[in-house]
Amino acid sequence: MTTVAYILLLTGSLFVATSATASDRNEAKKKAEATRPHIVFILADDYGFNDVGYHGSEIATPAIDYLARHGVKLENYYVQPVCSPTRSQLMSGRYQIHTGLQHQYIWNSQANGLPLDSPTIADKLKEAGYSTHMVGKWHLGFYKLQYMPQYRGFDTYYGYLGGWTNYYNHKIPYGKIPYLDFRSEKGPVRNESGHYSANLFTDKAIDVIKTYGHNEKPLFLYLAYQSVHSPLQVPKSYTKPYKYIKNWNRRTYAGMVAALDEGVANLTRTLKERGLWDNTLIVFSTDNGGCVPQGGNNFPLRGWKGSLWEGGMKGVGFVSGGYLNWHMRKDGGMGPGQVNRELIHVSDWFPTLVKLVGGSLNGTKPLDGVDQWETITQGAKSKRTVLLHNIDPLYTRRGSPEIQGAWDLSVRAAVRVGDYKLITGNPGNGSWVPPPGEGNSSVVVDPDPPTKQLWLFNIKDDPEEHHDLSEQEPEVVERLLNALVVFNDTAVPVRFPPTHDPRSNPALHGGVWGPWE
Ligand SMILES: *[C@@H]1O[C@H](CO)[C@@H](O)[C@H](O)[C@H]1NC(C)=O
Ligand SMILES: *[C@@H]1O[C@H](CO)[C@@H](O)[C@H](O)[C@H]1NC(C)=O
Ligand SMILES: *[C@@H]1O[C@H](CO)[C@@H](O)[C@H](O)[C@H]1NC(C)=O
Ligand SMILES: *[C@@H]1O[C@H](CO)[C@@H](O)[C@H](O)[C@H]1NC(C)=O
Ligand SMILES: *[C@@H]1O[C@H](CO)[C@@H](O)[C@H](O)[C@H]1NC(C)=O
Ligand SMILES: *[C@@H]1O[C@H](CO)[C@@H](O)[C@H](O)[C@H]1NC(C)=O
Repeated sequence: MTTVAYILLLTGSLFVATSATASDRNEAKKKAEATRPHIVFILADDYGFNDVGYHGSEIATPAIDYLARHGVKLENYYVQPVCSPTRSQLMSGRYQIHTGLQHQYIWNSQANGLPLDSPTIADKLKEAGYSTHMVGKWHLGFYKLQYMPQYRGFDTYYGYLGGWTNYYNHKIPYGKIPYLDFRSEKGPVRNESGHYSANLFTDKAIDVIKTYGHNEKPLFLYLAYQSVHSPLQVPKSYTKPYKYIKNWNRRTYAGMVAALDEGVANLTRTLKERGLWDNTLIVFSTDNGGCVPQGGNNFPLRGWKGSLWEGGMKGVGFVSGGYLNWHMRKDGGMGPGQVNRELIHVSDWFPTLVKLVGGSLNGTKPLDGVDQWETITQGAKSKRTVLLHNIDPLYTRRGSPEIQGAWDLSVRAAVRVGDYKLITGNPGNGSWVPPPGEGNSSVVVDPDPPTKQLWLFNIKDDPEEHHDLSEQEPEVVERLLNALVVFNDTAVPVRFPPTHDPRSNPALHGGVWGPWE
């Protein structure tokens, strides 16, 4: 379908929805008050800060923009630099220093996973009476059965277990041989080769909504799209509007974003057509910054996926849905269309959503997330003033150990306290890269020497991280280094077993990636 056609489809369906009578709407509101919302959590993969229409991207995202415009845009919102870390914090409400997942991400052949003593957000919502469903990318470990989504609180599951896969044949190599990574809670899905995952996952999500959206139990749908992670693959029709982009990576990526956006349009339309919109809360988030070498973009932010620069962690995120709109008006007299600039982190969804639905946080280990519902719906001050981005003691060191205060500056770490952000060690490539072929700006290559290992920024004044204040503001540096020391005292050892456990070889398990222990 062309972009124009699906914009028409979307706006057509919106027209249908808004033409409901006032009494219909009052009825729906009463119902919303009495019941708990359906929660649809959409997680995009490697979706960059500068790749969404409402941030001024050259890539059109009308459906995502529509949701954001009818909700609350989170513009001081953080995720983690890579996939498993963000997903682990979303699922557990806990920092990586408290789950042992400080280092890198989980490899397909690695006997690793989100520790079983951390209940997931799905466990808690299920305990609170929700019917829980997951579609898409897991990436939180699968070496034992108990680590798989259907044992982590999800009633049903449809998707892949690892970090990436082929969008069409759903295979990822072990050594040089590609094997299927595609399952439902019932077993391998072998019959969808050739079908693009953005379509498959959207269709499955729509199925879930149709099957469970009108049952007694409210619905929690976690839709973790494969889009727009590499490999750069998309049906040609989606790149047509972007022929003018000469750079192949960027052009293909733009098409992938278009497919994602079309999926969001289809999902939105389904919620409206089924009369579920008014009682649905939608959360949209990326899992990390865009990957510049793979077509993503975070300009004017510094750096990209995998780094501790803002381009790696400052995420696209918003909250939307009829339930939110109703709640905001009811609680604060505030309508939708807000921009929220309070500090919010991906670990905050756990307590925010569990408390919202009257669930219990009993049985969880101490959470690092805080409840942000009032912040989001009423513009209240965030209860979060401190955000530990990460401490990764295994990260390759840039310089030699260099102790300042009680902290070794060569350790890769970053912490935010109020408007200040402190980085130590090697944060990753800190270049400013505009989208290729766009406008007149050009790449500014990271100006810092490779031995530098301490930075301080005031993110409010300097969100693009141009002005290192570490020499001008030694007392702030001391305070933030101390914050790292205090966090580090609570850290558990890193769990990062060998990345190539030969027992994981899918040839030993019916030619499909899956549990091996
Ligand atoms: C694959 O199998 C599932 C389950 O039987 C079915 O719902 C789906 O339509 C099949 N897909 C194709 C392309 O045949
Ligand atoms: C959205 O729905 C249209 C119409 O049914 C369909 O052609 C298209 O493939 C869907 N797109 C996605 C990404 O699922
Ligand atoms: C936690 O609370 C839920 C719901 O109130 C209850 O079903 C469950 O048994 C409690 N769990 C623990 C460990 O106390
Ligand atoms: C963090 O804590 C660990 C364990 O107590 C310690 O070995 C390490 O030196 C600390 N890291 C830094 C940078 O101080
Ligand atoms: C950092 O990225 C820039 C822009 O892509 C590139 O030109 C530069 O070579 C990279 N630096 C390193 C050390 O890789
Ligand atoms: C880029 O374009 C803007 C607006 O057109 C202009 O103000 C600016 O000076 C230009 N910058 C360069 C480096 O050419």
